[in-house]
Amino acid sequence: MTDESYGVVVIGAGPAGYIAAIRAAQNGLRTACIDSWKNRDGSHAFGGTCLNAGCIPSKALLESSELYHRAQEEFKLHGIGVGGLTLDLKAMLERKARVVRTMTGGIAQLFKANQVEGLPGTGRLLKDGRVGYTDLQGKTSTLTARAVILATGSTPIELKVAPFDGERIVDSWGALEFDRVPKRLGVIGAGVIGLELGSVWARLGSEVTLIEALPTFLPMVDAQVAKEALRQFQKLGLQIELASKLVSVDRKKTALTLHYEKTPGGEASCEVDRLIVAVGRRPYTGNLLEEGSGIECDERGFIRVDDHCRTARKEVYAIGDVVRGPMLAHKGEEEGVMVADLIAGKNAEMNYDVIPSVIYTAPEIAWVGRNEEELKKAGVPYRVGSFPFSANGRARALESAVGMVKILAHQTTDEILGVHVVGPMASELIAEAVLAMEFRASAEDIALTIHAHPTLSEAMHEAALSVDGRALNAINRKAG
Ligand code: FAD
Ligand code: NAI
Repeated sequence: MTDESYGVVVIGAGPAGYIAAIRAAQNGLRTACIDSWKNRDGSHAFGGTCLNAGCIPSKALLESSELYHRAQEEFKLHGIGVGGLTLDLKAMLERKARVVRTMTGGIAQLFKANQVEGLPGTGRLLKDGRVGYTDLQGKTSTLTARAVILATGSTPIELKVAPFDGERIVDSWGALEFDRVPKRLGVIGAGVIGLELGSVWARLGSEVTLIEALPTFLPMVDAQVAKEALRQFQKLGLQIELASKLVSVDRKKTALTLHYEKTPGGEASCEVDRLIVAVGRRPYTGNLLEEGSGIECDERGFIRVDDHCRTARKEVYAIGDVVRGPMLAHKGEEEGVMVADLIAGKNAEMNYDVIPSVIYTAPEIAWVGRNEEELKKAGVPYRVGSFPFSANGRARALESAVGMVKILAHQTTDEILGVHVVGPMASELIAEAVLAMEFRASAEDIALTIHAHPTLSEAMHEAALSVDGRALNAINRKAG
């Protein structure tokens, strides 16, 4: 057993943990970051879920599948013929793996450059506040640190009626690794993962059926935006069964039969070849906390923290998916920065009201702040400005003239309260809205800002003008 003294020890090197470690080191603290990620081939890589099995590989496949789909459906509109279009899924998956390897390798380099000691293996918070470390060979040691940051992330929720078997019934990671395009694909949960990965396989040729328990499609999204998105996804061929509860799965040799209860409608069933279960994720704290460590978890298993990510124990912080709030990489990263700065004695805050969300489907959906339903419920007076991409020249040129930008601004102060986009590159467009809201800008501020022409961002400009009934390139609906 060795005993080393650190400024900070971070447990977990996903986006929350690795960013916290880099910032802590930049702040002059001797920092170690322990991470236990294991790839399918048994190798270790930093980057957590996000880089190895989440954000990055899913976006790589979304891009590849989108290109394939566009080559099939859209190229002819441009006068481009591609006879003999083929799909080499193995090559597509290899490209995805290369993207992932480059990104995870990049973290190892960043650790080196910032003098973070990256420690592959498992960390455990001991009751005396030190950290037990077991390396990949099973050798144990104990690390002493001025502060400890817990960033152990989350894992997929498993359904009793459809346990993962790693082959036909898979989680999101398995769904990024199918060795052939399933003819019929079932997805349980029409949430973010269900829609993104359902889109990937639908574009590659699968018939996709999503079974969603709730009666409302994407309840966290502005209802008008969700309605438009649903229309577009149905056009792509996604069959979305709302208010449907999976009851059982018959595993026949040749197919899986999904039995589900529809409300109203009663019993229904469908046959699929593969099934993705994407019904949410839960915080992961397996074997992390020695009994008596003084860290509390809530009833859903999240480590309890305050607004500054402090746990019940003064020198221990927790960030990312393992604590309350949206399970998003950028939310965890910003918490990592905040906590590393607090430990270094700096002032730091996190603005939880202005965290953007994105669903990387086609069209993309992105939003920040509150939606119309939330404002109504809270009794906040607001005005709406919106602009359709059908009236945006760049969107037309891109053959992506679907969806809209919608801005909600306070009735009297004009402060922007929420921005909702469904349409091309919504993920990039939302950044302007996030910045505007961070600066507490008014809709008028965006309306007075010059936007380059022709760009998709002009839709944001026009939506801001439309808050006051002054859109220039569309017929204004009555302000109010
Ligand atoms: P993780 O990334 O889960 O990292 C935690 C790390 O801690 C892991 O490496 C784990 O092995 C390690 N660990 C756990 N216990 C221990 C221990 N005891 N000792 C040492 N190490 C330990 N979010 C977005 O913002 N945008 C997206 O586009 C997006 N796409 C996604 C797509 C998919 C398919 C999935 C599944 C998720 C996606 N997410 C996305 C969510 C995002 O991946 C998570 O919010 C993010 O990874 C959380 O970061 P984290 O650092 O808290 O945890
Ligand atoms: P989710 O919470 O987005 O969606 C899960 C869906 O499954 C919900 O609509 C829920 O009502 C439904 N559901 C739950 N139990 C069910 C059941 N028994 N039968 C049928 N439906 C059921 O969770 P998801 O998609 O698993 O993603 C997990 C997390 O990962 C999300 O919180 C998300 O923030 C994050 N993520 C983010 C992405 C992004 O930022 N683009 C991409 C992918 C994941």
